[in-house]
Amino acid sequence: MSSTERFLMCPPDLYTVDYVINPWMEGNIHKSSRETAIQQWHGLHKLLKESAQIECITPQAGLPDMVFTANAGLVVGRRFVLSRFLHRERRGEEPFFKQWFAEQGFEVFELPADLPFEGAGDALWDRDGKRLWAAYGFRSELDSHPHLARWLECEVLSLRLIDPRFYHLDTCLCPLEGGYLLYYPPAFDARSNRLIEQRIPAEKRIAVNEADAARFACNAINLGRRIIFNEAGGELKTRLEGLGFSVSETPLSEFIKAGGAAKCLTLRLTEPAPKRAKPSTTVLSRELKLEGHLLDSGLLDRALEATVQSGGSFQILHFSLGKQRQSTSNADIKISAPGQDVLDKIMGQMIELGAVMAQRLEDNAELKPVVQAGVAPDEFMSTTIYPTEVRVGGDWWRVQDQRMDGVIVVDAERKIARCTLFRYLKVGDRVVVGSKGVRTVRRTESRDLRSSAPAEHEFSFMGAGVSSERRVEILVDQIAWEMQRIREREGRIVVVPGPVVVHTGGGEHLAWLVREGYVQALLGGNAVAVHDIEQALLGTSLGVDLKIGSSVEGGHRHHLKAINLVRGCGGIAKAVEQGVLTGGIFYECVRREVPFSLAGSIRDDGPLPDTQMDLIKAQEEYARLLKGADLILMLSSMLHSIGVGNMTPAGVKLVCVDINPAVVTKLSDRGSIESVGVVTDVGLFLNLLTQRLKLSAG
Ligand code: ARG
Repeated sequence: MSSTERFLMCPPDLYTVDYVINPWMEGNIHKSSRETAIQQWHGLHKLLKESAQIECITPQAGLPDMVFTANAGLVVGRRFVLSRFLHRERRGEEPFFKQWFAEQGFEVFELPADLPFEGAGDALWDRDGKRLWAAYGFRSELDSHPHLARWLECEVLSLRLIDPRFYHLDTCLCPLEGGYLLYYPPAFDARSNRLIEQRIPAEKRIAVNEADAARFACNAINLGRRIIFNEAGGELKTRLEGLGFSVSETPLSEFIKAGGAAKCLTLRLTEPAPKRAKPSTTVLSRELKLEGHLLDSGLLDRALEATVQSGGSFQILHFSLGKQRQSTSNADIKISAPGQDVLDKIMGQMIELGAVMAQRLEDNAELKPVVQAGVAPDEFMSTTIYPTEVRVGGDWWRVQDQRMDGVIVVDAERKIARCTLFRYLKVGDRVVVGSKGVRTVRRTESRDLRSSAPAEHEFSFMGAGVSSERRVEILVDQIAWEMQRIREREGRIVVVPGPVVVHTGGGEHLAWLVREGYVQALLGGNAVAVHDIEQALLGTSLGVDLKIGSSVEGGHRHHLKAINLVRGCGGIAKAVEQGVLTGGIFYECVRREVPFSLAGSIRDDGPLPDTQMDLIKAQEEYARLLKGADLILMLSSMLHSIGVGNMTPAGVKLVCVDINPAVVTKLSDRGSIESVGVVTDVGLFLNLLTQRLKLSAG
């Protein structure tokens, strides 16, 4: 019965490794022996001939990879989808294969130009012909899959390849008779592995190890209960034999030098037509528009990289490049994804980058009701710091209270959309889900500024992401200038100091800023207040005398003593009232009625009566004090600064100062174009800043 099976092969008379288009070919140019190749090919031919008929296509000069007939195209019944090779080196094979199949009476289907698909190298039928496993990631484009489903009237399951050594699906997956699947799981991304596990029951999955995969054990020809491959380890062979397969090994080392083995050297011509399944594919696409300094700012690059990283694919439908230095470019991009989950993820990223949906301009945002208080509908769209608009009843509404990591609730009656947190969701609230009808408004990122700061991608008029020591002075000048202007127009400057401000001798400078009206709110933790007060009361910070720079006798008790004193007074304000606390940052806050909020944490000593140990309340206080902020100074406090960053919409200038560049990068990364990082000692920074302000005050 298997003798009715027919295969196409191509004799290796002109075979050689002539170029490098996969990692196996590297270092192998002209290193294969034609003589051995011919011998090995005949070995395979002979084995296969025992159970099948073999047709041969004439090899062509200059097309050494033509021996790998698996890549000619995809056969099913009397239909043939011709390959479109990714690499120029192999494109010359296409007309020869096309002609051969047309002459044999196949109906030949051709994919649109520029849509790579490498035939049975990347598309494999389950042995019962019910479904087609199709790969993308290296040689074939995801967008070819819907064509296959339509033309071949079958279900296509898209798998993403991620290991360049296994660049074709047939190098790492082989459906076997009886519903078995021989495959190498690490060659696929997690989502593809899940798909395989959903479709193939555990007892039918035969996962091979790396050693077998590297010997091309998955590159197998399966004929009934027969398996032919290059070679495999004893364990795998025993396992296959235990399942009733007979295994034949035939050496193909000369072809492995080009990245192919048994299966690649053959193309099955007798693939039964599937039982007219309803064509199906989970591949989805969407078109969107991007505008801005797409090239200079790296925006396009980031958009495309994010798409591929997330498991999707793209096509640029139209691109127009701004000709002048200041003119912007725009691009129409088609994004494809193997399923809704991936598409939503990519769309979320695109919206964050400021993309606007193209043909979906008419879509309204999709809303789903909250059914359990404090819990969002599963597909909720999570918010960013960027100004966002949602489309409701045909109109775009600006989202209020924009913040990061929230959800958007639409109140149709009051005609508002606003950001909120899970914990505030009430049953019946209507939450925006998916990515339809949502857009973010990003300010065009300036090309000049961007190009001056290497690794950073977000910064501002004030200069560049993370600064070098030499730039600190210039930055401080700009920050001082900005602070003066804010004070003049009675704007809001919020400071988020860590205890290091006090340790490094910056306490007196920050106190000065408060006294002079440069601070409208102060957000910190227990420690900054404790150290400031210890400094004011006892002249030390964590027991260290800052004037002499060393620990004083019994100094380690000092901070506890400070806490105890304030506790005795009933709080910081009371300590000031009672004349106990007479200087320092918090003294000035009380005197100038500058509100502060201290958020507690597990490590806090004391804590001070003012420290809010209910963190939800603390978050609320922070959020309240941040409202309307024009400038936020984050001074060596990572935790509280990250919290503040999440609550702050884009457009608020952030200045992050820390001695550790990693912290500065982390913080300025969360900010928008307006954020600036300063890597320096915070005490020095504050010293410089106050000097600058005093100077220009005359
Ligand atoms: N050198 C060929 C290429 O890189 C090898 C093709 C192997 N064929 C296959 N079906 N995996 O295209």
